[in-house]
Amino acid sequence: MSKLHLGVLGSGAGSNMQSIVDAVENGSLDAEIKIVLADVEDAKILDRARRHGIKCMYLDCAPWKTKLEGPAEDRCIELLKESGVDTVVLAGFMRIVKPKLLAAFPNRVLNIHPALLPAFPGVHSWTQALEYGCKVAGVTVHFVDAGTDSGPIIVQKAVPVLEDDTPESLHARIQVQEHLAFPEALNIISLGKYRIEGRRVVIEER
Ligand code: GRF
Repeated sequence: MSKLHLGVLGSGAGSNMQSIVDAVENGSLDAEIKIVLADVEDAKILDRARRHGIKCMYLDCAPWKTKLEGPAEDRCIELLKESGVDTVVLAGFMRIVKPKLLAAFPNRVLNIHPALLPAFPGVHSWTQALEYGCKVAGVTVHFVDAGTDSGPIIVQKAVPVLEDDTPESLHARIQVQEHLAFPEALNIISLGKYRIEGRRVVIEER
């Protein structure tokens, strides 16, 4: 069992980061958020971090719009390392992270995706699930590998798709489960009672 030193990357509202902060503050997760980085200057995730006294910063990722590469990637790794981060959490970070960052934190980069992977990788996955006619949707927390939303799965949670759902109502129901799934996955990592066997994350004990 070891305390996690987290670096959180986000682009938006930061509700997933908030669920991690809440789990740390109520003692259900042995972790500390060392730094929060956002690629959007006025992202709410930065306001939330400030409110909790967590070091946070805007990371200018130009000229790229959808990936973290080049000088911004180097700066990101440098900031994470100098902050003492051992585990990187992608909490609504709308960019593809590249092999250099993954190599700096081997098997220690986690992502949350609002779908039951491998169904509906990519963006607006809840809308894709609704339009496909799925009766069940959900959320996945997984290790990040070189692909998109493709690494070994740590936790999944399902939610029903209701007859009168809109993309917004379905996303809201998925988010309730996201906020349980991320702390749960981080707890598994913190307890260290798991092993990665190919695509499978085998959890030895909870
Ligand atoms: C979540 O739905 C997450 O699954 C997706 O982006 C959204 C981020 O929400 N990758 P928040 O910024 O954590 O509130």
